[in-house]
Amino acid sequence: MKFLHWLIALLIFVQFALGWLAASWHLSPTKLTLFVLHKSTGIVVLALVVIRLLCRLATPTPPLPADMPAWERMAAHASHVLLYLLMFGIPLTGWVINSAAGIPFRIFWRLPLPAIVAADKNTASLAALVHFSLGLALALLLIVHVGAALRHHFIQRDNVLTRMLPTRANPR
Ligand code: HEM
Ligand code: HEM
Repeated sequence: MKFLHWLIALLIFVQFALGWLAASWHLSPTKLTLFVLHKSTGIVVLALVVIRLLCRLATPTPPLPADMPAWERMAAHASHVLLYLLMFGIPLTGWVINSAAGIPFRIFWRLPLPAIVAADKNTASLAALVHFSLGLALALLLIVHVGAALRHHFIQRDNVLTRMLPTRANPR
């Protein structure tokens, strides 16, 4: 679970960079390459998130610090649910843009990605708007998520961040 958390986090940061670059690059072969990389990595993220959620539902997670107030527990739970929804929603809306654009696409130039909606210009622009808005929402939520992790470490001085690091054994 820890490995998947950091791998997915890394790939999502790469995705923000690739997404912005691909969308703003002038029309050229480089733009197309950036898009193939962005869409392919996005599908990999989607697959990893499915695996992570299945593992998450099948295994218990370490308890939160005992002295944590109820509102903080609720905030942690709600923000984690929202993070999962965005981790699904963003690649899925990306997939919708790609399908609605009607351009055949192969993941990493190899595996064809089937269309999930019919080709339609309006659907493509709507999905692009939703993809962008969800991306923005994720960026904002990540500021809160990372801020909360740093607050746990430097202000509360509990083990919530350190237990997520690869070097530490899982707490019992
Ligand atoms: C794209 C980036 C990230 C995403 C999508 C993400 C998502 C998540 C999710 C969904 C959880 C809840 C775990 C679960 O119940 O499955 C979690 C836990 C956690 N994340 Fe992240 N995370 C990201 C980046 C980061 C970064 C950069 C840090 C540290 C600075 C961090 C620190 C933590 C910590 C400490 C926990 C454990 C919370 C606990 O024990 O309850 N995350 N993350
Ligand atoms: C975790 C996964 C992903 C993240 C964080 C992400 C993020 C982004 C960002 C930040 C942009 C630039 C902003 C914009 O113009 O909308 C973008 C654009 C785009 N993404 Fe993604 N994306 C992800 C997955 C995908 C996937 C799986 C696909 C397709 C299979 C995809 C297709 C696109 C397309 C076509 C655009 C250009 C939209 C436009 O024309 O405005 N993305 N993405």
